[in-house]
Amino acid sequence: MHNCISITDTLTYLGGNDRRIALFESAYPVPRGVSYNSYLLKDEKTVLFDTVDEAVAEQFFENLSCALGERPLDYIVVHHMEPDHSATQRRLLQAHPEVTVVTTQKAAAMMKNYFGFAGKTVLVKEGDTLCVGAHTLRFVLAPMVHWPEVMMTYVAEEGILFSADAFGTFGALPGSIFADEVDFERDFLADARRYYFNIVGKYGVQVQNVLKKAAGLEIRLVCPLHGPVWRRDFAWYLEKYCTWSGYLPEERGVAVFYASVYGHTQNAAEIVASAVAAKGVKVRVYDVSVTSVGELVSEAFRFSHAVFASTTYNNGIFISMEQLLADLAAHAWQNRAYAVIENGSWAPQAGGLMDAQLSAMKNMRCIGEKTTVLSAVNEESAAALRELAALVAADVLDN
Ligand code: FEO
Repeated sequence: MHNCISITDTLTYLGGNDRRIALFESAYPVPRGVSYNSYLLKDEKTVLFDTVDEAVAEQFFENLSCALGERPLDYIVVHHMEPDHSATQRRLLQAHPEVTVVTTQKAAAMMKNYFGFAGKTVLVKEGDTLCVGAHTLRFVLAPMVHWPEVMMTYVAEEGILFSADAFGTFGALPGSIFADEVDFERDFLADARRYYFNIVGKYGVQVQNVLKKAAGLEIRLVCPLHGPVWRRDFAWYLEKYCTWSGYLPEERGVAVFYASVYGHTQNAAEIVASAVAAKGVKVRVYDVSVTSVGELVSEAFRFSHAVFASTTYNNGIFISMEQLLADLAAHAWQNRAYAVIENGSWAPQAGGLMDAQLSAMKNMRCIGEKTTVLSAVNEESAAALRELAALVAADVLDN
């Protein structure tokens, strides 16, 4: 049965929620599910903004049928061709042969690659407009937010921005689709941060380019492809995006990441974490072997400082820590201060190797010397760990 939700007199939400999905993009755990958003504008012409993932296809087509009623579908605006938004396009084009596809040249090429055809297509470029009655759609290119073909649509008459993946979040919608009807900071911010850094975090420069374009627009309603619709207090969320895309820390504090096999490296990490917290500094501690790397990446971006503690393994860095460092490099982690702790029973190596990887990232600053634990923490190494913690805490508080 249809479940359309009215946003304005002329704009309707047609999307759906998937709460059974385990891994988004086969990589990121989504224990709170995810929504796939699609919108229909009914003016002199009818305009669909994107389709949805296959997982919510039936809900979407029921919604579309109900929202259209007896009217034909005149246009579909395709903002992004990733299959979580395009998997149902082929079926849509078959069900609505009357529809004209409005999209970028790159997206049209992808449609042909995915489906073997692209339908009747109008190609648009930056700043092109399409009048559909009382509303005029203006197209804003947003390459690499998150794929190269991405664009957004701005509707000046009502200040609506259809923002594609930008301003989206993991997390299914809890009945209401509006950010002002949920406790976004409590219930969605961690998921939004994790979504941003893992999905588009690598492309901060491109996100900043789009934010500069958006700065000149009066935006009253933001309709992303995932998560809640914003109709008030959007400036708060926009500020988060400015911070995140600038690779700036959101909070002053320390993320302590440890990889420990028998608990001794954990012990070292906990000693540092407790000593830092005792100075009044915000600290979070993560066992990198049991926490998804996507969450670790998100937390590394969140804080101004990080401590990495790893046992030496096969004369190198422990596997899960190696993966975290590789993911941080892949997502262009930068502008942070860090400290390293290593453990080794006969040939400690992990500290120097971690430092080599971290110092190769952009604008990174190492605090103190690497601190070495030989098998288990003793009085001497505990004193060195507390000394390192004092340096890290002072650095957080001083800057
Ligand atoms: Fe939600 Fe890049 O797709």
